[in-house]
Order: sequence, then structure tokens, then C-alpha cells
Amino acid sequence: MKRIKTLSEYFKKYELSEKDPEKFWSEIAYSFIWKKKWDNVLESDFENADFKWFKNAQLNITENIFERNLSERGDKTAIIWEPNDPKESPIYMSYKELYKQTCTFSNALKSKGIKKGDRVIIYMPMVPEAAIAMLACARVGAVHSVVFAGFSAASLADRINDCEAKMVLTSDGNFRGNKTIPVKDVVDEALEKCSSIESVIVLERTKQNINIKDGRDFWWHECIEDESNICDSEVMDSEDLLFILYTSGSTGKPKGVVHSSAGYMVYSSYTFLNVFQYDEEDIYWCTADVGWITGHSYIVYGPLLCGATTVMFEGVPTYPNVSRFWDIVDKYKINQFYTAPTAIRALQAHGLEPLKNNSLDSLKVIGSVGEPINEEAWHWYHDNVGKGKCPLVDTWWQTETGGIMISALAGITPNKPAHASLPLPGIMPVIVDADGNELNGNNVQGNLCIKSPWPSIIRTTYGDHERCINTYFSNYKGMYFTGDGVKRDHDGYLRILGRVDDVINVSGHRMGTAEVENAINEHEDVIESAVVGYPHDIKGEGIYAYVIVGTKLNDDKIKDEIINVVRKVIGPIAKPDKIQIVSGLPKTRSGKIMRRILRKVASNDFQNLGDTSTLLNPDIVTEIIDGAII
Ligand code: PRX
Repeated sequence: MKRIKTLSEYFKKYELSEKDPEKFWSEIAYSFIWKKKWDNVLESDFENADFKWFKNAQLNITENIFERNLSERGDKTAIIWEPNDPKESPIYMSYKELYKQTCTFSNALKSKGIKKGDRVIIYMPMVPEAAIAMLACARVGAVHSVVFAGFSAASLADRINDCEAKMVLTSDGNFRGNKTIPVKDVVDEALEKCSSIESVIVLERTKQNINIKDGRDFWWHECIEDESNICDSEVMDSEDLLFILYTSGSTGKPKGVVHSSAGYMVYSSYTFLNVFQYDEEDIYWCTADVGWITGHSYIVYGPLLCGATTVMFEGVPTYPNVSRFWDIVDKYKINQFYTAPTAIRALQAHGLEPLKNNSLDSLKVIGSVGEPINEEAWHWYHDNVGKGKCPLVDTWWQTETGGIMISALAGITPNKPAHASLPLPGIMPVIVDADGNELNGNNVQGNLCIKSPWPSIIRTTYGDHERCINTYFSNYKGMYFTGDGVKRDHDGYLRILGRVDDVINVSGHRMGTAEVENAINEHEDVIESAVVGYPHDIKGEGIYAYVIVGTKLNDDKIKDEIINVVRKVIGPIAKPDKIQIVSGLPKTRSGKIMRRILRKVASNDFQNLGDTSTLLNPDIVTEIIDGAII
């Protein structure tokens, strides 16, 4: 696969992708190994959310990571693993070694009865085995669903049940900073509510005491003991499922976003190579967790498909101290560094002292993902980490898009602070108003939609295709609706403004307000709750909950209990930052909560509350303002 090298080439490719998308994508697809070539490049039906890319082709994505790379790059380092504790030795794993370990574990999966199409949950720390687990599933044709290991037992159980998974891959415990997390205990608790799981494979990481249930639980090292390191890859149709990844929406429970084999392979690798401008000898590091889409596409699949060296970090940016990221950059001479604005802002708060002993000279490209990056953080990152010389790629995309959609190409597209900038070739963004009218030209603002399919477009929400159609393809006819607001500035550059639905973005993690409300409502003394986002210096958005309670407990006690319930139902990432106990919520005569008012109050903006005369209970607004937590 060739990468774009100049701005004029970018514009040429963009034009081609617009005029003749099939030619554009097939030229890229030819660089992969196919067991059988496609009949049709694309069949697309927006109304029914039915997309077939590279129809009837056959492949296996792992053949394109291994067999395609091994002859040239067998001894090249595929994964550098940096442990949580910097005193522990890192691991340098070559492509050859990763291949052998993947094949060995693939055989272990098969021995435990896993076959093509079975769903396997991965609930693991950031260790090379997490990547091996994903690749082994792909090798044997099983569908992996990675669940971020910070989610609670209840959340894990929901995901297992939703996709009727047959197996869980996990570890005894996780090291995170100075904490050790009892992961296997969480799995045990979750499995009390799950009937589909037949076996659990446990990686020994922390060596803490765990329960092993006879006949169900097996140690990873014992499972691979007698397995061969040769395993032919399963033949997959282009549209066979590669993975399910659960993500929050504006209503109800998280949905299982489905990605299929061929389109995802082509798009994740094409975008990796072009956005980061990866060169053969570069060392690339994305700080995400494999539990999120960024980890899937830009730690594991994208880089490995391109034969890159990808760094996996087990720990957190603040352990053993706040220089950790910069120490790692210097230790491995990282060339491309990709992180989230929330991490930048958190590190920025510590000033420049933690950067003082690091040269960061190796950096060529720095990247941002997950939430809008404010101008102050952009400049701090650009000036102090990138030393003013590294292009900063602000990459906009989503779990549903599978890969980066709007971003500068490093060093090619001119940088503009806080602007994701221009769409990648093949991506046709449109800005629409509330009625679905396209807003053409520059200096316009509205909802962001995409009007033609790209290879890694969401295929379905697992087990509920109607939900996929309703969420993404029915708001605006013939378009994919992103849920984000966007502005096209006077130069035609795009600036993402954040969510326009009831989804909030906390530290780059998507959270449905309804999901948090449901969790809060599980407390027996809670009568009703409403959750909104508010601007937060570090997290981007914080969670503000208004709660009506019927309890004799004092406010502090009930607030603590509510936080604990949310931790238990979803996980620590969803716990409210502020809880205001109220006697009522502002409602319209039809009983709808007027969230606009709640958002304003939470944002400390009491002036422009708008028309409150249609409220059933206008007096409540005064009470809410008086009790607001600032
Ligand atoms: O609101 C946008 C925001 O994150 C949402 C997608 O979240 P998720 O599926 O968890 O994927 C995150 C990692 C790709 C989007 O709808 N978002 C993501 N990247 C950016 C962003 N907002 C602004 N600028 C970005 N670069």
C-alpha cells in the first residue's frame, strides 16, 4: 500500500475517491492477500443499513498481518510492551514470535471448542496476550468482544449475555498504577448471571489468589503447553464478523457495534499509514486501552497490518510519577505518539517540570483522539511535547466508523489548532440543519453526517439491526448520522463541536446520560434522576446528576451510596462528579424533562435559561439554581 506524500496528491486521491470510490478502494485492497477476490467492490443500501464491501471475497485478517509481513519483517519488532512497573522488564516481540504465539493460542481456542462465528469476550489488562487473544480469535474465525477491564461485573455480564459469548479470556488480576485490580473476581461475579459461557481462560499476571472453577476455568499457560505453533487461518467471507465492541448511545443499554473482516482491514491500515505517515523504522505508540476502538484500530490491527512496531503500555500516565509518558517516549525513541486530550490536560496541570528531563527528540508526529481538543491544550501539546516542530493530527472518528474519518495527514495537511481539518479520501462529510438540509459552503455549522459508505462503516448493532437503522440511518435519509455537531470554517476546515444528543464525553469515554440515570435509579431510595454533562477542566465533560430521593439518610451519605451504585452497575468511569439532591425536576406539561435548563445550571450559566413558562413546575428552577453545585 502506497501512502500519500503531498497535499496535491491528497486532493487528487480525494477527487478520485469521490468520482469513482470503487476504483479508489479496490486499488488499495489489491495490496492485501485474498484467499478469493471480490465479485463487487461495493453494494450499499443506506435505508436498510446494508453495506457489502468486497462482496464474496475471502480472506483472513491475520494472514495479512503475518503471512503478508513475515518474509520481509519476520525479525522486526511487532510489539514493544512496557509494563506498569518501570522496574519490570519490557517485552520486545518480533512478528515471527507474535505469529507463533497467536497460532499456539488459536489452537488452544480450538481445543476448548471455539469455532468460526463463536463469540469470545476479552477482559484483560494491557499485556501482549490481549493482542494475541484478539488475533487468535480472528485467526480461527471467532468474533471477539473486548470489554474494558474497568467495567463492573454487571456491565460485563450484560455484554456477555447480549452476544451470548461462549468463552471469557481474562487474567488473575491487573496492575494499574499502585493498585492491583482483582479482575478474575469480577468475572466470577459476572458469570453468576450468565449461562452461555462454557470456559474461562485465565492469564497469570499478578499471581494473586483466585478461585478456579473445575471444568470451567483454565490457566492460559496450561492451555498452550501442548499446542502446536502452526495453525492455518480460517476462511472468512469479507462480511463475516470480525468483532463486536459495545458502546454507549443516547438511549438504553450499550449497543454492540459490529465490524466485519475485509472493510475494516482495508480501512484501519490505510488510515494508520496515511494519518501518521508511518515509516518502516518508526516506533509508534498509542496510549489507549484495547478495550476501546482506538486500541483495536490503532494499537493492534492498523499498525500490525502495516508491519509497524506498536507499543503497548500497561500502566497509567501518573505512575510512578507524572513524567511516565515522557520517560516512555525517550526510552523507546517513539516517533508517533497518539493520546487523548484528557491526558494532555491532566499532564498540563502539572506544568513543565515533569518534561524537564526528557528530550522527546525522537517525536515526529503527535496525535489526539476521543474528544474535542481545546485550543489551550492544543498549543501546550504542540509547543511542549511536539516542541513546535511535530505536526499534530486531531483525529475525529467513532466506534461505529472503525477508523479515522476527519484528520490532517501528518506533515501534509496544514495544521489548524482545535480543527480536525479535512476528511480522509473516501469520506464525504456533510453538514445538515435540523430539517436535514445540506448546508453547503464555508462558515456553516450543523449536524455532521456522512453521505457515502466507507469500508469500515458499522454493519449492525449485534442482535438488533432495527436499532442500527434507527440510531444512525433514519434521522437523515441516505446518510449516516454521527451524533456530533460540526462547523466548517472560512477555509473549509472542519471543527468538531461535540455531541448533539444525550451522550456525554467524559475523559474521552462515551457515556449515555440514560445509562447513568438507570444506574442511579437502581438505588432503592432514588425516585428519579436526570444526568447532564458540564464543562470540566481535565475530563472535558463531567457528570452532573440531579436526583430526587425519598430517604431519611443525610445528603452526604446518600450521595456516597449513589456513587457506589453507579460504580457497581457500570464502573468507576461513570460515577457522577456532582450530585444535587432536588425535590423535583423541571418538566414540560407532557412530562418531558427540560434538560436544556439542567445543562445551563450545571454549566454555571444561570442567565440564559430561555423560556420556562411552559414548565409544569416553574418554581423548581429557582430551587435548582439556589442549590446548584458550582
Ligand atoms: O463526539 C465525538 C468524540 O468521540 C465520539 C466517539 O466516541 P467513541 O466511539 O468512544 O470513539 C472514540 C475514539 C475514536 C465522537 O462522536 N470524538 C472522537 N474524536 C474526536 C471527538 N470529538 C472531537 N474531536 C475528535 N478528534
